[in-house]
Amino acid sequence: MTERMRILVTGAAGLVGAEVTARLVAAGHQVTALVHHQPVVIRNDGTPLEPDAVTCLPGDVTQPRLGLSEVAYQALIADGLDRIVHCAAITDFGLPDEVYQAVNVDGTAHVLELARAGGVPLVHVGTAYVCGERDGLIRETELDEGQRLANAYEDSKFRAEALVHKAQADGVRAAIVRPSIVVGDERTGVVRDYKNIYVVLKLATEGKVRSIPGQYEARLDLVPVDYVADIITEVTHRFEEAAGRTFHAVGAPLTLRDFSDVMAEYPPFHVPRFVPPTSFDAQRLPRRERAYYERVMTLYESYFRRRTRFDDSHTAGLATRRPPADGQDFLRTLIDHCLETGYLGAPPADATEVLARLNMAAPDAAPTANGTGPTASDVNGAGR
Ligand SMILES: NC(=O)c1ccc[n+]([C@@H]2O[C@H](COP(=O)([O-])OP(=O)(O)OC[C@H]3O[C@@H](n4cnc5c(N)ncnc54)[C@H](OP(=O)(O)O)[C@@H]3O)[C@@H](O)[C@H]2O)c1
Repeated sequence: MTERMRILVTGAAGLVGAEVTARLVAAGHQVTALVHHQPVVIRNDGTPLEPDAVTCLPGDVTQPRLGLSEVAYQALIADGLDRIVHCAAITDFGLPDEVYQAVNVDGTAHVLELARAGGVPLVHVGTAYVCGERDGLIRETELDEGQRLANAYEDSKFRAEALVHKAQADGVRAAIVRPSIVVGDERTGVVRDYKNIYVVLKLATEGKVRSIPGQYEARLDLVPVDYVADIITEVTHRFEEAAGRTFHAVGAPLTLRDFSDVMAEYPPFHVPRFVPPTSFDAQRLPRRERAYYERVMTLYESYFRRRTRFDDSHTAGLATRRPPADGQDFLRTLIDHCLETGYLGAPPADATEVLARLNMAAPDAAPTANGTGPTASDVNGAGR
């Protein structure tokens, strides 16, 4: 039984923050959720947290005292926080550099000030991609290896982590959790926000982007949001063991070859061609595709070149849960969910319906648990 704690979660309404907040509330803690534009905490499956289960505190990490009044800030310290879990960040790509600086770097500095002033242990949520464009095995103990950071987001998260290390040297107690690319739930594929990699998937499967500079041997690391939230929660609970260490919250890496093979299992999908970056010439793309490439694909391009593998020995040594064992199966779960919700085209027809139209009986027409026959994902699964 974990002892009841007072915990401040920043970015509590975000994809990861909401799942972490829900877990901490369920464990019986008194959670203050720092919220920003989105004033309530809605879980990944769309369920709002009961208003009396969590105290939502509007704030802004870009501001000193997290944008709180002096009175509210001092009250937060005086009430005695036991943990801060810092999830707030700008995660969209392609924004002006100063936005990443203000939220991801200055925001972390302001959170560290609170941790210092209140003597509060901090769980900082970083990203595994602070490794930048380094290839090969990336260890949890490494940060500054002279790597080239691919974009302003990575650069800001790198500098935020460096601030956490500096603060640790000055006496702040902290642990860092680094997720890779956060996607839907491991079992259901459910995801609240179709951002980043989902946009690439949509453009590719709809044939709007047909060739992408990349290597088939490059690895994408997709990690389920529920797994990431479990790891952050476990690090928060077992802070005494986690303090001073970094934990990769990463999935089963997929090569782009694995990725393409899974996409090819879905007949309606276009499968993009990965072209060696040295022979890729954006000027030769059709006009419409070039526009998508320039506006969207350039933001993600470097992820299709990296042959990164994340070591997660610290996480394996601490946490009870492990990530999905099979990256391809997990990708199918994600795609099936996108099809069911219509995000990737119209949901495919139910197999029984199709066969009925053809005047044929389904060979396995026994009803499923809900009595409705095969679901859309069953149909997709059938052709694999
Ligand atoms: N998503 C990923 O693929 C991924 C991968 C690796 C690491 N991470 C890290 O995981 C953490 C959580 O990411 P996420 O996926 O949950 O992102 P998210 O869904 O974009 O949530 C970020 C949260 O930060 C809040 N926020 C933004 N600006 C703020 C400000 N000025 N003051 C206070 N709060 C502010 C947002 O609130 P509003 O929306 O209301 O402004 C939102 O609730 C971040 O540190 C991120 O870098 C994410």
